[in-house]
Amino acid sequence: MNINELTLTAQAMTTAGKGLLAMDESNPTCNKRFAAHGIAQTEAMRRAYRDLIVGAPGLNRSIAAAILSDETIRQQTLAGLPFAQALADEGIVAGIKVDAGAQDLAGHPGEKVTEGLDGLRQRLADYRQLGARFAKWRAVIAIGAGLPGVACIDANAHALARYAALCQEAGLVPIVEPEVLMDGDHTLGMCERVTEQVLHVVFGQLQAQGVLLEGMVLKPNMVLPGLAAAQQDGIDAIADATLRCLLRTVPAAVPAIAFLSGGQSPEMASARLNAMHAPRRLPLPWALTFSFARAIQEPALALWRGEAGNVAAAQRALVHRADCNGAARRGQYSAAMESGA
Ligand code: G3H
Repeated sequence: MNINELTLTAQAMTTAGKGLLAMDESNPTCNKRFAAHGIAQTEAMRRAYRDLIVGAPGLNRSIAAAILSDETIRQQTLAGLPFAQALADEGIVAGIKVDAGAQDLAGHPGEKVTEGLDGLRQRLADYRQLGARFAKWRAVIAIGAGLPGVACIDANAHALARYAALCQEAGLVPIVEPEVLMDGDHTLGMCERVTEQVLHVVFGQLQAQGVLLEGMVLKPNMVLPGLAAAQQDGIDAIADATLRCLLRTVPAAVPAIAFLSGGQSPEMASARLNAMHAPRRLPLPWALTFSFARAIQEPALALWRGEAGNVAAAQRALVHRADCNGAARRGQYSAAMESGA
């Protein structure tokens, strides 16, 4: 394991004032989002869309790293440059989603386990050749009646830790993403309890597998009430619950925590991240930033609609959301930034 390289990469991915852009949707997920906007679901359109993102002027002002999918890292921009190279030319670190998706966990109805460890060592070596310097693996944990169970948390945490160890062996920084889902009517308190339990188990497994904490990035959910919960708590309650949970579970040796957006609106995701950087909540032991997909991309995708004439407007919308989140990371986001958009 090259400790120096891993720690430097982790720092570069989460450098001050910037965050990550997740643009690693699998083809089925990308196609689903295209279909919702009436965009043709073809390889050429996915390439054109990723070209729009990577070529957005000013993207590197607030984005330090971008997560690609297997298809994109093998593609070239419309100008003929490999996407990972185009990002590197803009000072953006390229990474790759390496999990094979969440499958039903045998014997545990309603629960999932993420697969993809088979052959991962070779795939990581290949991705490094293609320009990736970090990787991502997402586990999903549902809250429901009697859920999550211990078996689901243990299986996902074990897989995350084995993935992380393989990444570090290959010189790639692992993004460890245990996502407690927003679906359901659970309370903020329930999400906090489950997230705390999940993170305790994940860090126990990371320790057991010998993962270098200084050479990884944690990508958790914010602690939120379920989307269908009767009580939708305010920004301050969410910021307090999220930080309390993370301070109890995430060692200070971890350089950065980068939230997923998980289905929050773009504005809510920015406002909540911003609240966590309020002066009274500082200092924090780790950098606290974003690694959003939908909360950065959605407005741009809605504007683009697959038409070349909309590319410039979509790029402005994308960079605007990135800048809002860059400001939130510094505690400088305000609703006024939205009215100026
Ligand atoms: O794995 C999930 C993505 O990297 C983050 O997506 O911000 O839309 O939840 P999201």
